[in-house]
Amino acid sequence: MEIRLNKARKLTGTLRMPGDKSIAHRALILGAMAQGEQVIGGLPDSGDVRSTAECLRALGCRITVGQDGRLVVRAGRWTADPDLYAGNSGTTARLLAGLVAGRRLDCRIDGDESLRERPMARIAEPLTRMGANVRTRPGGRLPMQVRGGNLKGIVYRPEVASAQVKSAILIAGLHAEGKTTVVEPVPTRDHTENLLTAMGVPVERKNGSVSVSNRCRPGGIGVEIPGDVSSAVFFVVAASLLRGSEICLRGTGINPTRTGAIQVLREMGARIELANVGSCAGEPVADIIVRSEPLKAVDIDGSIVPALIDELPILAVAATQAEGVTTVRGAGELRHKESDRIRSTVRNLSRLGADIEEMEDGFVIRGPSNLKGAEVQSFGDHRAAMSMAVAGLVADGETRIQDAGAAGISYPGFFDDLRELARS
Ligand code: S3P
Repeated sequence: MEIRLNKARKLTGTLRMPGDKSIAHRALILGAMAQGEQVIGGLPDSGDVRSTAECLRALGCRITVGQDGRLVVRAGRWTADPDLYAGNSGTTARLLAGLVAGRRLDCRIDGDESLRERPMARIAEPLTRMGANVRTRPGGRLPMQVRGGNLKGIVYRPEVASAQVKSAILIAGLHAEGKTTVVEPVPTRDHTENLLTAMGVPVERKNGSVSVSNRCRPGGIGVEIPGDVSSAVFFVVAASLLRGSEICLRGTGINPTRTGAIQVLREMGARIELANVGSCAGEPVADIIVRSEPLKAVDIDGSIVPALIDELPILAVAATQAEGVTTVRGAGELRHKESDRIRSTVRNLSRLGADIEEMEDGFVIRGPSNLKGAEVQSFGDHRAAMSMAVAGLVADGETRIQDAGAAGISYPGFFDDLRELARS
């Protein structure tokens, strides 16, 4: 699918983002492991979350839609050796590897072309150490065969800061003998810990380490999933850049392990306010109100990268319009996402006329520059597609995004919602 966009005047109006993708995966997976029913409201209808639901069904879990439209998840009888297809979703493949490792199951986990390029040794290695039998394709790639059962708790110090790795080990740890501990190099999103706590599982957190044990099975609860802050940031950037804009994004998750982009945009001068702050299922939520404001450059380093890892492509768009030189370093993990996000960001923004230089672990952008509409690619990456749409709203002339349907991986209605706010 090709999407064509023209320069917009401003964004105004109120929106609710689709439910948070990261929390949705966890609500489903932990629901499948729980005693009793897990009832989930606000589940996003996105490609990645569908992949998790389909895999859980293949494992024997019962997922139905209740009368009020909420999803009801119940553990079924486990199917011993299903093939699990994770599609485009790294979170599905890695977290489910943790689930399978903890039980007497023997599953082949596979994914699409992009997911087959992404590193799996980072979970195969600790799960093997815990006692699972994990075989990957050479180079630590999918497909991966995971045979589980009889695990022992370990203390694991991952080299890369990854919430997916941490979560896979903690999920396996719920079925491992003794205590399982992950010591993180830099803190990453803590949705697994929050949800486990809300589901009644003791989670010990201290000095950058997280531990669980197999003593307590999670109990099913009602989970209302907050709006996805990673989706919200596309609108936050667009509204900051287009003069005269004022938008409100209701009920959005503001977990501090996820809001690095909001913090950085504020440092850049953006006018972002939070209202109606509350919480649901252990996660803080708020309405995010944004008014346009000229931006200035910023330096982003590895210490904040995990809190804004998925937002770097759209922060790059913001940096093209900011006064000064923006540097992003310590973000080598971007090369292992749905696309090589350093390369895809540099290629696309260069085509639009931005002054951007590729680094091994990030990029340097000199702004502000006058972007000019051109043909750009999603590279099969939802966040590249949506970032280019925002760039298209500030560029002169027409921007054409090839393979823009990739946005459906996290936000199927994105282009309609963006047009709606640009029209009002
Ligand atoms: C995610 C963690 C991050 C993020 C991904 C979702 C999660 O990946 O990029 O989109 O739900 O745990 P890593 O843990 O591999 O950094």
